[in-house]
Amino acid sequence: MEKIQGNMKSCLQPMPKILVSCRDVNGKNNALAVAYCCNCSYDPPMIMVGIVPSRYSYKMIKETGVFVVNIVTKEQKEMFEYLGSHSGRNEDKFSKLNIKVDEGIKVNAPLLADCPINIECKVEGSIVTGSHEMFAGKIEYVHADKEMIKDNGDIDFSKIQLL
Ligand SMILES: Cc1cc2nc3c(=O)[nH]c(=O)nc-3n(C[C@H](O)[C@H](O)[C@H](O)COP(=O)(O)O)c2cc1C
Repeated sequence: MEKIQGNMKSCLQPMPKILVSCRDVNGKNNALAVAYCCNCSYDPPMIMVGIVPSRYSYKMIKETGVFVVNIVTKEQKEMFEYLGSHSGRNEDKFSKLNIKVDEGIKVNAPLLADCPINIECKVEGSIVTGSHEMFAGKIEYVHADKEMIKDNGDIDFSKIQLL
């Protein structure tokens, strides 16, 4: 194997495809596609999401300190692509797509009801890494489709057709 220098940008793959949903202080719901997302602590359970400050969702998460990570299935490709290419600054994406919403139990933010897993998070801290601000969210509650959960409460990812 002969190795030559590769591009540094996005050189780590695969990237997850999730939707982060949030609500502003006036009650407007929004969501965006996020690939910069990872587990960042096991105890306490925490997830990190990277949001570019120019996103409409950024200010919402910054002001409210909460967000929801929604796991997306192959069937939801269209919704994912729309939310990842249109800004809530110009329209109400939830009304436009007729997105069904459930309420968070621990956080004041919308859950995307048709996603099989919704993870409610409270921001514990953040770090500006460069293009993104990485928000470390403590997991407050996990909503899981009961068909996709094992007897011990673990999520059975073999049953989810991840996008
Ligand atoms: C596959 C994919 C991955 C994306 N990942 C991120 C990401 O990690 N962070 C981010 O800030 N934007 C990401 N985006 C872009 C936002 O989802 C997009 O700019 C969205 O329209 C912002 O919506 P908003 O302005 O309503 O917040 C991604 C888009 C796509 C299609």
